Amino acid sequence: MNKFLGSSVTKKFVMAIAGLFIILFLLVHLGINFLLLIDDPVPFTSAAHFMASNILIKVFEIFLLAGFPIHILWGIILQIQNWLARPSRYKKTAFSQTSFFSKYMIYLGIIIGIFLFIHFINFYFVKLGWVEGDHENFYGMANDLFQLPLYIVIYLVSFLFLAFHLHHAFQSAFQTLGLNHNKYTPAIKGIGLIYSIVVPLGFSIIPIVIYFFK
Ligand code: HEM
Repeated sequence: MNKFLGSSVTKKFVMAIAGLFIILFLLVHLGINFLLLIDDPVPFTSAAHFMASNILIKVFEIFLLAGFPIHILWGIILQIQNWLARPSRYKKTAFSQTSFFSKYMIYLGIIIGIFLFIHFINFYFVKLGWVEGDHENFYGMANDLFQLPLYIVIYLVSFLFLAFHLHHAFQSAFQTLGLNHNKYTPAIKGIGLIYSIVVPLGFSIIPIVIYFFK
């Protein structure tokens, strides 16, 4: 395994790069999905068309759709190797300096993974033709989806766990890439905290506004 995937340092490095890529993607994805709140479907649909047809975005999407499985798979492999390396893991971590959520990253990651699968059934698999639906009308599909309380609860609970995961993930990715220094680590932690609140909160506003106000 190590021969193929490299040392745990290499794996953590690859995971951090994929993670920062996803962090960038979520900003773009949030920006586009906010257009769902406009009563006129044209702005969202034109943005989705631009995302689906622009060559640069298509290249970005390839990295993105590689980034998610790499991030998830490396995360699981690293965690299992960690557990095997440190059977008495619980006692040790109690005193670490890292954030509260660092102990639960694997569980938070698995929950976000389950959300992603449900989310792909809602949208991306429709685009691939694997699930029935009109991928030319994601605007209508998203507005219909967020009339269903069950999906609203699934999305909102998932965004809460996404916030917990991002809270540690943001600073940890910079640390793994060696971009931590007394001078700017506090700023990275600050930006990470703001990001881990604003982005999941932004995503949460979409189903709530669509359900109660549209
Ligand atoms: C209210 C929240 C969200 C809405 C309304 C939403 C909507 C959509 C839509 C309409 C698509 C299909 C876009 C297309 O392919 O043309 C999509 C794809 C996707 N979504 Fe979301 N999304 C939301 C939150 C999230 C979150 C939180 C994540 C990650 C944790 C995520 C990850 C993805 C990925 C990876 C794709 C496939 C790549 C792509 O097609 O861009 N989404 N989403």
